Amino acid sequence: MTVSDPSGPKTTPRSVEGKDVKSAYARWAPVYEVIATPTVPARKIAAKRVNEVGGRFLEAGVGSGSALSLYDPNVSLVGVDLSHDMLKIARERVAKGLPNVEAIVEMDLMSLAFADASFDGVVCMFTITAVPDARQVMREFARVVRPGGIVMIASHFEAKSGPWQVTDRLLTPFSKRLGWNPSMPIDGVLDVPGLTLEKREDLPPAGLITLLVFRRTA
Ligand SMILES: C[S@@+](CC[C@H](N)C(=O)[O-])C[C@H]1O[C@@H](n2cnc3c(N)ncnc32)[C@H](O)[C@@H]1O
Repeated sequence: MTVSDPSGPKTTPRSVEGKDVKSAYARWAPVYEVIATPTVPARKIAAKRVNEVGGRFLEAGVGSGSALSLYDPNVSLVGVDLSHDMLKIARERVAKGLPNVEAIVEMDLMSLAFADASFDGVVCMFTITAVPDARQVMREFARVVRPGGIVMIASHFEAKSGPWQVTDRLLTPFSKRLGWNPSMPIDGVLDVPGLTLEKREDLPPAGLITLLVFRRTA
């Protein structure tokens, strides 16, 4: 099954490619969770939203698996990521005992190796701005989620004003080395065939992170 786009092909700028991601996150992996400490409160809220829904979820861009212990037993998970180095940490976590994690798999979000409608939901945290083409990844999410299922995206998107805009502009030239695009416009993920935006929530730190909740329609 393909979710067709009546308005024709659209893509978001390809600022970060898979090879950039692999080398960037090989560097980040040993220190990632320390550097990412400010995102912990947002990750907890996103996981709470997943727990409220329950079912079989794909955690897309699971990274080091720092969210895996936040899910309740009513959620089962498959975690996928492109970075071998980040997944190594996730696998060590799972080995210590996370019974609701079905599998941790090295996989590119641009082309998911799952059948249509395999999941009740997809949760993707701080990753949609790290892929080469966010719309293509969103189309893949729409495909692997069952009709009526949900897709949750938590990320920082391009700030239109204020201090985060200054930070975005300073960091954006270093996207390839960082392994994500600090100024990806939110529009790139809002208008995706088969996905209807149901909720938009600001997560802490204030003004930095947005949670988008879509429902798979049609
Ligand atoms: C900033 S980290 C976020 C990790 C985790 N979700 C978290 O909240 O800590 C971004 C992750 O996206 C992964 N990633 C980037 N592009 C990817 C792609 N095309 N396919 C799969 N994973 C990708 C990176 O390897 C990295 O682990």
